Amino acid sequence: MSYDEMYSYLEARVDALKTNKTGDERQTVDEVFDKQTLMTLYDMMTSGVIDSVRFPISTGKEGNVFYAEDTDGDPLALKIFRTSTSTFKHFSRYIEGDPRFKGLTGNRRKMIYAWTNKEYRNLQRYYEAEIPVPEPVSFAKNCLVMEYIGDERGPCPQLKDVVLDDPDDTYDEVISFIIDGWQDAHLVHGDMSEYNILMWDDQPILIDCGQAMTADHFNAKELLRRDIDNINRFFRNRGADIIKSEVIMEETLNGGDDDEEDDDE
Ligand SMILES: Nc1ncnc2c1ncn2[C@@H]1O[C@H](COP(=O)(O)OP(=O)(O)O)[C@@H](O)[C@H]1O
Ligand SMILES: [Mg+2]
Repeated sequence: MSYDEMYSYLEARVDALKTNKTGDERQTVDEVFDKQTLMTLYDMMTSGVIDSVRFPISTGKEGNVFYAEDTDGDPLALKIFRTSTSTFKHFSRYIEGDPRFKGLTGNRRKMIYAWTNKEYRNLQRYYEAEIPVPEPVSFAKNCLVMEYIGDERGPCPQLKDVVLDDPDDTYDEVISFIIDGWQDAHLVHGDMSEYNILMWDDQPILIDCGQAMTADHFNAKELLRRDIDNINRFFRNRGADIIKSEVIMEETLNGGDDDEEDDDE
């Protein structure tokens, strides 16, 4: 297969390539769909993971999220991480110190591929622990495919943009993501906020799990406290009945150890 053949195959299946080709958008397109990323998408298409990439849902600093479809025409979310230098700098401080990525240094692309892998694995861990996250589908290089959270009108709104029927109820649910995430998935999300929770009707769904750390990471408790403070700040403003951060910390760290003896107090 020649590059031209691949490109015309892709052009037919990556609508986003065709729609955004003027001015500023051009740069985003070139940056996101660089040659290697196109190859990765090509592989994902020929192996049947995705059939087409339709349009961008979100353009972020580190990556873009696209609406894609599988071979049955069912929706998927495709997150493509940029392989630029600034992305690398942002990621490297999270990957360094994560025991799962010990020994990985230097190479920028490798680091971003590891990051993609990390978000996939974090999603898997949350999903297996039955914390509501998009179901991970597949990943390769800097591309991550997951369940699409939304309907034909668009992705579900972020928590920040929703008027909550029952703030207490949503608050309890989100706090359970923190506690169960730690106890059952052994993860701390690390960037929990009203931006990284989507609302599927009344059900919050946790997203953007790339920076989540294992609970044994040296920084994990600090991140945990920050997540709790963030969530408390948001829900306090929404008028929910807030549980003190210290109490949630205590419950998270010690609440799941009922079968261990408590003889040191
Ligand atoms: N699985 C998904 N289904 C639907 N929309 C999604 C999904 N994942 C992300 N999005 C949309 O893309 C936005 C950015 O995704 P996120 O994972 O938070 O990346 P980042 O914040 O690093 O750009 C989200 O706020 C949401 O609107
Ligand atoms: Mg985000």
